[in-house]
Amino acid sequence: MSILSGKNILLGITAGIAAYKSAFLVRLLVKNGANVKVVMTPSAKEFVTPLTLSTLSKNEVHSSFTNEDDDNAQWNNHVELGLWADLFVIAPATANTLSKMANGVCDNLLLAVYLSAKCPVYYAPAMDLDMYKHPTTLSSFSKLNEFGNIQIEATSGELASGLIGKGRMAEPEEIVKFIESDILKNLPLKGKKILITAGPTFEAIDPVRFIGNHSSGKMGYAIAEAAASLGAEVILVSGPVSLQIEHSLVKIIKVTSADEMYQSVHNHFSECQIAILTAAVADFTPANVAEQKIKKKDDSLTLELKKTKDILASLGKIKNKQVLVGFALETENEIENAKTKLLRKNLDLIVLNSLNDKGAGFKTDTNKVTIITKDNKIEPYPVKTKREVAFDILQHIIKQIHA
Ligand code: CTP
Repeated sequence: MSILSGKNILLGITAGIAAYKSAFLVRLLVKNGANVKVVMTPSAKEFVTPLTLSTLSKNEVHSSFTNEDDDNAQWNNHVELGLWADLFVIAPATANTLSKMANGVCDNLLLAVYLSAKCPVYYAPAMDLDMYKHPTTLSSFSKLNEFGNIQIEATSGELASGLIGKGRMAEPEEIVKFIESDILKNLPLKGKKILITAGPTFEAIDPVRFIGNHSSGKMGYAIAEAAASLGAEVILVSGPVSLQIEHSLVKIIKVTSADEMYQSVHNHFSECQIAILTAAVADFTPANVAEQKIKKKDDSLTLELKKTKDILASLGKIKNKQVLVGFALETENEIENAKTKLLRKNLDLIVLNSLNDKGAGFKTDTNKVTIITKDNKIEPYPVKTKREVAFDILQHIIKQIHA
């Protein structure tokens, strides 16, 4: 999965031959999981049709302040479009539009959106070689870069005029790569490695039976995905669950038993700066695993269980500079019990979820947590999606890292 997944990307298209490549750019962005809307200058429509772009983006394409073909003409709200966008990418950006952007001209919808957008703005210039090096164009570049807009440099090659030189818009693949790495380098968890455990563990009784629990792994997987979207490299040690994550920054290590989870976590802990243990690890495991399937010959069966190793507590004992985060599922004296657990396991932060709360728990998509830090700050949250809870937890960790 790309860092662009789930992002709202507004693509601005201006009137240059390279506009035909914008259709590929829309497709690539959508393929990477982004929500794409297109705004184009009126003359850009002569280079690529709104029909192509709306079909590829699955969204209406806007090019004027009102829908002129519509008798009940509706106002296309440039402020709303600007606020909707997490990123505004203008590709191709002609010399004409760049000059207008640099000087605050606002004579079409795209420019009005540009003036009202609060998100990062990327622009990929496309023009003939002499236009590209003309002092006015260079002055537009430097003004826009001064405003904080981000230039995706044109490349050299054969231009629409037949001349050879610099001015070709970067290829859609290069534009996507550029934006991805630019986002990544500014992310708060860039350069950090995070170890996360998730899901249940299965403790074998015999070759076909096990002791397990109802953990779905949703919370741990949500944290892994959120951490990767904030730039972290994630090692996700997962018990048996049916979830999947496809993200270049997430490496999933599948384990089955508490002992395998313990081994795998210890193999990776020293290379990580943060560890978040969400797994519902079995507290007990059969003392002996029968080699053959146990037959039901008697009226009752007694299994001898032995305690598993507490993975979280074992990390608390050896942690160096790592931020260590645990979860606590409590049914009574919740805050007090969670605080005691935090101290006993030498944690920096504990996430308490109570079974008494509606919307919290194992299989739901929501959770209601209270985050308790080692300096005794207690922050209760309302019911939120597990994705939102994941970001709340990570925000706390980012604060601790930068404290
Ligand atoms: N945990 C772990 N290894 C275990 C048991 C628990 O890493 N063998 C971790 C869980 O992933 C969770 C935290 O410890 O982050 C809390 O586990 P929990 O079972 O609620 O608490 P315990 O310390 O086992 O205490 P109790 O069962 O008495 O509540």
